Amino acid sequence: MRDDAPQIHLKMRFSLLLLSTLAASALAAPSSLLLSNIAYRSPSIEVGGDGLAHDIDAIERRHAKRSENGERGSFAGKLSFPYGVASGDPLEDSVILWTHPEPERDTDQPLCLRWEVSSEPGKWKGRALADHGTVCTTKDVGYSVKVEAKHLKPSKWYSYRFSAVNGDKATSPEGRFKTLPRPNDDIASVNFAVFSCSNLPVGSFAAYGNAAKHKEIDYALHVGDYIYEGSARLGAPEDRQFEPRYEIASLDDYRQRYNAYHRKDASLRAMRAAVAWQVVPDDHEVADNSWKDGSAKQPPGTLFRGVTFSERKRNAFKAYFENMPIRQISTTDDLRTWRQFRIGKLADLNMLDTRQYDRDVTDVYTNTPYIESIRNDTSRSLMGGRQEAWLYNNLEKSKATWKVVAQQILVTQMHQLRKCVGCAQDLNYDAWDGYTANRARFYEAVKKTKNVLMLAGDTHAAWVSEVHEPFTDDYDAATGKGSFGIELGGTAVSSSSSYGSLTKEIYVERAKQLTEVNKGLQFAEGERRGWFSLELTRERAVARFWGNQNTAPDSPEDLLATFEVKEGTDRFVRPINGGKRPIAGALQSLEWDQSSWDGTTFTRPRA
Ligand SMILES: *[C@@H]1O[C@H](CO)[C@@H](O)[C@H](O)[C@H]1NC(C)=O
Repeated sequence: MRDDAPQIHLKMRFSLLLLSTLAASALAAPSSLLLSNIAYRSPSIEVGGDGLAHDIDAIERRHAKRSENGERGSFAGKLSFPYGVASGDPLEDSVILWTHPEPERDTDQPLCLRWEVSSEPGKWKGRALADHGTVCTTKDVGYSVKVEAKHLKPSKWYSYRFSAVNGDKATSPEGRFKTLPRPNDDIASVNFAVFSCSNLPVGSFAAYGNAAKHKEIDYALHVGDYIYEGSARLGAPEDRQFEPRYEIASLDDYRQRYNAYHRKDASLRAMRAAVAWQVVPDDHEVADNSWKDGSAKQPPGTLFRGVTFSERKRNAFKAYFENMPIRQISTTDDLRTWRQFRIGKLADLNMLDTRQYDRDVTDVYTNTPYIESIRNDTSRSLMGGRQEAWLYNNLEKSKATWKVVAQQILVTQMHQLRKCVGCAQDLNYDAWDGYTANRARFYEAVKKTKNVLMLAGDTHAAWVSEVHEPFTDDYDAATGKGSFGIELGGTAVSSSSSYGSLTKEIYVERAKQLTEVNKGLQFAEGERRGWFSLELTRERAVARFWGNQNTAPDSPEDLLATFEVKEGTDRFVRPINGGKRPIAGALQSLEWDQSSWDGTTFTRPRA
């Protein structure tokens, strides 16, 4: 019982509280149990002021009084777990566990749960019980529960669950996670599932459901657009519709949006329960085409539904930290989500925020020629100076075999075959193409190190590239000579294709055209929704792109194409995809005679 004590590594002012609480009955005086819930002090202990910080003492005093229905202490009624469970940000000995209990009736009393982590599936007693505790939550944090489970062993699978302390002792679904290896462990392999762009009313989340069945997956990465902030979608069935129905801005709005996602989609709940997640937001976790001071619909200095952009971003981040199994990264920096995980000696995983943290003005649809005109300015940054310095230093210092850079937007120069009135080129200036000096600085760091793998989402299509200098012609698309890195851009879980709504034949034709105008683009695909896996071993990295038709929650998936990179080469093994035509989309090297590249297009198909 006594290691029910909350795991606090917090300021001194809480330790007196802790002692007094342990002396009393835990459930009657839940303050330490509130404190063990990380949701109260995320994104940071101070949480940006302005009504987002929680006064635990005041919440405690509120509960010490009789509540409206005359009860004292924690809620005694029934609880349920309609939002499922999740785990995330594993380390060698700990992990973050998440859930969100729902009381059978409205209450302002705390809801208290026991949580348990077991090293043997189905066993919740004796030596199998690796860690456990009791935690409470209140309306103040939208009933979210986040605890850190500790005392775990490295590279090991665990099960976990939550159960109500009162009432009928309702139990949550069970989840699983694997801890990371120790930083110096020489592990043989690791396998990630990579997701982006999950738009609830647009289509089913078959990609999550399919991925959840892949038992070889160790961890899930979500590189952003986990939720969308927009208003209800015309014609979407009610069981996938957004809540609330308007474009969201307040903390309560963002909370309701996450609740709708987690309540309405069983595939998402299955994938969240299946493995530990490592997540970073893109724009839609706040607002479309956001940058540090505004978004497409909310220019700097304007109010949206009564809030400024910075207030809106804080609301969005607060709800993100309440609903995602993410660690508190900085005790003082509310907006910091960029962080690193070390996967033994095999990989360093750098998770970037190229979107919300410190990004200079982006393409907001109405200013595209202007962004094109300033895109080479050296002062423009996607990440801000602190994050840039941190990333380059990580790459330089890394001793791991693979350096994974998990981030939001396409890194490589990419002609879109799309017209823009007033523009000289057809590039996506909301991607790294709008920040070419920042990209040049990043490329300098990448060129000094082997085995950099860049991951991207954002575009709702697949883009697999060998990374080369954008403005010179020293890259050979046939052999990969001149490539100094790999980019794996995944398609959306459900968001509509950036190619538009086309026939199967035209999707393939379009993919071929894109590979014609983009030399490094070795695979393009726009028809399927899906995800990709990234398997790393000491000798090779293998990416498998999985696609489904997204017609139903259980839409089956196909392995569209496989890409292999040998350690130390920074290019794909030829023939790409084993020389086979992919099930959807197009490969570059199979279709076109590389000697016929005239700088703009390939003029001759392969003989
Ligand atoms: C940005 O730099 C590239 C490469 O030097 C050049 O082709 C392009 O015209 C430049 N764009 C602007 C707006 O200066």
